[in-house]
Amino acid sequence: MDKANKQAFGFYVQEWNDEKIKIHSECVIDACLNMANNSNLKKEVFIIAGWIHDIGRKIDKDNHQIISLDFLKKFLTQHPEYEELKDLISDCILNHRTNEVPTTKYGQIFQLADKVALKNDKWLEYKKSKNK
Ligand SMILES: [Fe+2]
Repeated sequence: MDKANKQAFGFYVQEWNDEKIKIHSECVIDACLNMANNSNLKKEVFIIAGWIHDIGRKIDKDNHQIISLDFLKKFLTQHPEYEELKDLISDCILNHRTNEVPTTKYGQIFQLADKVALKNDKWLEYKKSKNK
């Protein structure tokens, strides 16, 4: 799990390293892992999806979930050991927005976490500091 986090965070930093999305992504992953606590769900799915799901925003906010999938493909060429998780991570990324319908438990948790993250204290503090 720590290894996946290092790799996916490293990829995030390499591709974008936007401060706001970095904090948001941390909060999404935190919410996912809390929801997946005491389950057999593969935590790596949430961690990788968390760091990659919004990178597409740097190119096109409106279609970012589709563009983020291309970043997932790039990540998987660099880290092929996660190839077997591709469909689950893709469901999280592609269907995280409000009007999409995730097909897996992973995608359903991820979609909720993307919203729960907006109530995370770390996120609220960041927003407050930016509004000063
Ligand atoms: Fe998000």
